[in-house]
Amino acid sequence: MTEPTHNRMITPKAREEDAAAEKSLRPRRLSEYIGQEKVVANLKIAIAAAKQRGEPLDHTLFYGPPGLGKTTISTVLANEMGVSIKVTSGPAIERAGDLAAILTNLKKDDLLFIDEVHRLNRAVEEVLYPALEDFALDIVVGKGPSARNLRLKLPRFTVVGATTRLALLTSPLRDRFGSVHRLEFYSVDAMTDIVRRSAAILKTPIDDDAAVEIARRARGTPRVVNRLLKRVRDFALVLADNHITLDVARQALASLEIDDLGLDENDRRVLTTIITMFDGGPVGLSTLAAATAEEVDAIEDVYEPYLLQLGLMQRTPRGRIATRRAYEHLNIPYAAKPSDPSAPQSSFWDAEE
Ligand SMILES: Nc1ncnc2c1ncn2[C@@H]1O[C@H](COP(=O)(O)OP(=O)(O)OP(=O)(O)O)[C@@H](O)[C@H]1O
Ligand SMILES: [Mg+2]
Repeated sequence: MTEPTHNRMITPKAREEDAAAEKSLRPRRLSEYIGQEKVVANLKIAIAAAKQRGEPLDHTLFYGPPGLGKTTISTVLANEMGVSIKVTSGPAIERAGDLAAILTNLKKDDLLFIDEVHRLNRAVEEVLYPALEDFALDIVVGKGPSARNLRLKLPRFTVVGATTRLALLTSPLRDRFGSVHRLEFYSVDAMTDIVRRSAAILKTPIDDDAAVEIARRARGTPRVVNRLLKRVRDFALVLADNHITLDVARQALASLEIDDLGLDENDRRVLTTIITMFDGGPVGLSTLAAATAEEVDAIEDVYEPYLLQLGLMQRTPRGRIATRRAYEHLNIPYAAKPSDPSAPQSSFWDAEE
């Protein structure tokens, strides 16, 4: 995944500190997990029911754009259930044997977290099906005519999968998850709470209006808001005695080139490219990726979901289009095309002029 340019330049040391801070900011219990009320309410029921029955949770799948809290909620689930969590990911499990090794090492009630679950290969998926469905591992022993199928019984456990791309999951795999939850972009209120919580953990006083300002401009994404907060905090330390005021927040956001809608230079470049190079679109995804020097995945996973949500971009069968709102936001004069549904309808009166 391509990261925004201003993050690419940070040193390995800064990255380590970032990772450490990210860890300390990560909620551990449901009571600390802000927002996503619908998902949280459903999980509370599922947890209570599983505990009453003395059974592990149903296999659970979380999907949604990066940084919205899929990994976080999965560790929270393990903590709430009081079970241990084993972490792996789709690309890390290369062969069926790798998965068999992971599964046979699970203990009763363990939670197996599989990140990027859409990237499991076919052979590995085949092994996962009976494991999910019957807590069983099918293995072949021996070769040739004497080969036999053996079915190993596994203890009961929970698989929690996470993916940014539900559509890439095969349907047999998807159907084996008992509950599927979509994480949404966070509301400004929820984001404001996250800013306040993180600022308190980082021991940096913050004014209410400053918290709202940072929250508004962080693409509804907790990871982004924590990142912004850390940059703003540097400004506060140098300029304002380590106190985040609205003024400090605005200065920091301006220097990071985060605009009013929370777009950074990469988001704006994607939109500007559609407008200036492709006359507003439609333009196919891979062409757009080539023109912006971004990866297709970065456009689909990172930029596009938020631009769609803001109504700055549209997906059509023929490709991506920049909407009228995108032109307005970027201060580019909008010339309506006859086919554009958002263009004003010409009428009898127009014809008169
Ligand atoms: N509900 C929440 N409340 C407070 N902070 C949160 C919440 N969800 C996530 N965060 C913060 O945002 C950061 C990113 O979350 P997380 O790593 O869980 O996202 P993700 O969905 O797994 O992203 P990716 O798709 O890139 O793996 C976490 O380190 C955590 O600090
Ligand atoms: Mg994650």
